[in-house]
Amino acid sequence: MRSAAEISEWIKTEAKIIEELSDRLSKAAACIPSRNESAWLTDLRVHFERFRAHFHKHMALEEGGGGGYLAPVLELRPEWAGQVEHLQDEHRELSTLMTDIYHELNELEPGKTVTMLDCCRRIQNLMEVIRHHEDRENLILALVFSRDLGTTD
Ligand SMILES: [Fe+2]
Repeated sequence: MRSAAEISEWIKTEAKIIEELSDRLSKAAACIPSRNESAWLTDLRVHFERFRAHFHKHMALEEGGGGGYLAPVLELRPEWAGQVEHLQDEHRELSTLMTDIYHELNELEPGKTVTMLDCCRRIQNLMEVIRHHEDRENLILALVFSRDLGTTD
């Protein structure tokens, strides 16, 4: 099992990376420019892909086929199995949402303002949902491992 210090460090580092990638993506999706839509679209796709690639890796590390960051929660607090299962179900949903938006984003064409606006709103909504998911997940990890940290330091 990973040490509490290692898990705590991982949570902090990942939170920072996800926040940075999410901020850049949110800014890109905040408004459709009146000129150079093609360049903006390329930029938006790049930011979305960076976020998506990292968040997929992040979720895989959390689950890790029984050896991920969520596994020790089940070992230390088996009574929280329902909450861990719920977080894992959300990973599946988030993955589907990201794939849907990825396809929508690739089909966007300059000039289709309503569709572009709709896609931007979906991206903003996804960032909000992910923030909520991450907050709950980090709280669970922090609650479980703060107790462990107290005994190892
Ligand atoms: Fe997660």
